Amino acid sequence: MDILVINGPNLNMLGIREPDIYGRETYEDLVALCERTGAELGCGRIEVYQSNHEGDLIDKIQEAYGTFDGIVINPAAYTHTSVGILDALKAVALPTVEIHISAVDRREAFRQISYVRDACIATVTGEGLDGYAHAMRILVEHIDGKDA
Ligand code: DQA
Repeated sequence: MDILVINGPNLNMLGIREPDIYGRETYEDLVALCERTGAELGCGRIEVYQSNHEGDLIDKIQEAYGTFDGIVINPAAYTHTSVGILDALKAVALPTVEIHISAVDRREAFRQISYVRDACIATVTGEGLDGYAHAMRILVEHIDGKDA
């Protein structure tokens, strides 16, 4: 099973940006966690991608069509604004889990709107970086369940 993990804007600044909200672990730590989790879950290819640009994120989602079995996505700020990312997820129609490091539902009102959620089988919030491992597990169990 091949999984693509997509990260949106400013997540490359993990460890530096607002550590009281996002913690002190770095983006490199996040990549290592996703790779380790993929190995533990018996996955094949795990690619972890980050971009600060909406169009690049959309291109990456489109590239996943026919090449990955599922997507874990933290669209970051684009969660709350991007119909384009929602439409791309709907277009490729791969099982997708939405993940947020912080508890977005307990933050500002504008963070409680998620455009992408409509295209996702589940959402994980407020679990820090460990939420990525949780999201990957949900995705793998969902895909395994469909194959069974
Ligand atoms: C975030 C929450 C978003 O509201 C914010 O814009 C981010 C990160 C999170 O992982 O908690 O950049 O997606």
